[in-house]
Amino acid sequence: MQTTTTISAAREAIARARDSGRTIAFIPTMGFLHEGHLSLIDAARDNGAEFIVVSIFVNPKQFGPNEDFARYPRDEERDRELLAGKDVDLLFLPSTGIMYPPGSQTTVSAGAVARPLEGERRPGHFEGVATVVLKLFNIVQPDLAVFGRKDAQQCAVIDRMVRDLDVPVRLLFAETAREHDGLARSSRNSYLSPDERKLAPALHRALRAGEQAVIRGIRDVSAIETLMRRMIEETPGIEIDYLAAVDPETFLPPADFRSGVLLVGAVRVGRTRLIDNVRVVNSS
Ligand code: PAJ
Repeated sequence: MQTTTTISAAREAIARARDSGRTIAFIPTMGFLHEGHLSLIDAARDNGAEFIVVSIFVNPKQFGPNEDFARYPRDEERDRELLAGKDVDLLFLPSTGIMYPPGSQTTVSAGAVARPLEGERRPGHFEGVATVVLKLFNIVQPDLAVFGRKDAQQCAVIDRMVRDLDVPVRLLFAETAREHDGLARSSRNSYLSPDERKLAPALHRALRAGEQAVIRGIRDVSAIETLMRRMIEETPGIEIDYLAAVDPETFLPPADFRSGVLLVGAVRVGRTRLIDNVRVVNSS
């Protein structure tokens, strides 16, 4: 596996692969890799990737002033080994100065899909995500890019950006990788104390209970949300940020359930903020 820290070296390595006719796939990450990230590499390969580029960059622009940028977990050595073990071709590891040199000032304004839920709680977050992802797309110019459905609203923001700005890339959204008890894998799970770790799967259990309600034919959005909320409230030590049933495209309350429904939630366990979602398809 080749590692590059500069944009020009990354472009050169990728150009050679492209010239030899290989299909380039790209997986952007913030590192501290886990099975969820690694499953995106498998998804890329299953979808025809022949040269796989992974980036690790903890993007300061997507963290709010009171968020965890400074303490975000980092372990470059371990990440490198995991990626080499997956036969990744190129690791792009830029510094903040390379990505945002002095004088840099242009950003991507994400649309309406970035406003509710995560967008409302984390002002500027999706603008930071869209900006860095577009920059990385312009550096790597992949044929295919893979993102995880765990960050469902992020997928929708990127999907909208690619369509609205005519970015020539095929997007692939991969299923959420989970621990055995349902907890969605996340770099932030490393913040959890052993006691907090035991509480954390309550979020997924609540979303699954919401799913069962939809499958049973319940179409009353506030009844579904109340049911999910009650399940979390049964677990002291977890604070609800939001729990909602939304339209999977707009992230607003669903007008009807014809295009399915997305059950989304964010909770706090101690100092750790966790998010998860469950899609219910064909639920009419
Ligand atoms: P990060 O949180 O490191 O996640 C990188 C990619 O892995 C994202 O597409 C995310 O959705 C996916 N992912 C995380 N946990 C997953 C899981 N349990 N199962 C499947 N996929 C999972 O998301 C970001 O970084 C950043 O916002 C980024 C897109 C890199 C822009 O900075």
